Amino acid sequence: MRQLSDATIRISSYTGLLVRSIELCCGAILYSAELKDKISAGIFVGKLGYVASLAYKRMEELRFGQLLIESSAAEALDRIARDLHPTEAISAIQSLVTSISARNASRDEIIDQPSQMVYEIGATTFHIRSSPDQAPAFEADKTTPYTGNELIAAVPVFPARPRGMAIRTDRPINFDARMKTVEGRCSIIHDICIDVEICASEVCAMTVLLYRKAPLLLKLDMARQVWDEARHAELALERFEQLGGESSKQTYTFGVIQRWRMGGELSERLAVQQVLSEGNALDGVTSLAAAFAAAGDHETSRMFEFFTADEEAHVRFGNRWIRQLARSEAGYNEIIQRMSRRLGIPIPGFPTVNVPSRRNAGFTDHQIELMVEAQRNRPITH
Ligand SMILES: [Fe+2]
Ligand SMILES: [Fe+2]
Repeated sequence: MRQLSDATIRISSYTGLLVRSIELCCGAILYSAELKDKISAGIFVGKLGYVASLAYKRMEELRFGQLLIESSAAEALDRIARDLHPTEAISAIQSLVTSISARNASRDEIIDQPSQMVYEIGATTFHIRSSPDQAPAFEADKTTPYTGNELIAAVPVFPARPRGMAIRTDRPINFDARMKTVEGRCSIIHDICIDVEICASEVCAMTVLLYRKAPLLLKLDMARQVWDEARHAELALERFEQLGGESSKQTYTFGVIQRWRMGGELSERLAVQQVLSEGNALDGVTSLAAAFAAAGDHETSRMFEFFTADEEAHVRFGNRWIRQLARSEAGYNEIIQRMSRRLGIPIPGFPTVNVPSRRNAGFTDHQIELMVEAQRNRPITH
């Protein structure tokens, strides 16, 4: 019968492999230029993160807190990091993770059934199955601690963008005027795809890469958000193409990334992206959906409504982790206020506070009352 120590080492090595793969794929998101490559890398990060969260839960059940990684897998990942182009790296990582998931899933032992479930879900999620006979034997002693010395992608100041697409530095043209034509609505959808969703996915990928010492569960929340934003980008891009949008006519900004870079430590950056930008967007997204509905485009309107549910979770991630990192409600408030002043972003913004959505996103009743009050007392300016 298998020993408990083998089972814990194996599940820990598997978690380590998934987390390390998440890091490498986050690098691929930043270095891929084409939106479709970024999106597929983002979706893969989400799947890795989802299975990693199950594996981590199993580690906790076995009360094993040490993250390990099998040395042969660590070396393979280092080779991938050193040698390959971002899109090739994704498929190389996919085959590696698949083969290790399938190899572990083939060990059918009742005593460790919950772990088996995790490996089986991994093997199915990453699609390819290999027969147990082909799999190399697992050697329990061949593990190396997750040291922090592994190769990871350097974080670029600005992520890659499609060749030929121009950057825009002026202020975005008023949405109302663009809402009147199909071409205008297409450009709004494209702006949201590249300037909001893709940038949000990249900011989370950069968070994973820059704050390696952050709690594992925070990284997994970021991997989840990378996935959600990549799916939003995919849907927006699909809708843009359906409406006949031409990508050669589109432009982009790095506004989201520039704002995020105005934060320094991890909690400040979470405050900028998850709480200020995405938190305030919770109040605005219904008006955007309503504007598309009013223009007769109900399909796009429904798409934006669907995004809201994921966005609430992202703001909740920010609120939860800032509170945890700040260790007190006063510390949390201090960080939020500091970043609000530094960026010149008021809380709330101008659209009416969406109380149920703010509540779902982890703001306290007291905070929400203050927001509603602030909006009521604000002088009307146009
Ligand atoms: Fe999004
Ligand atoms: Fe989001």
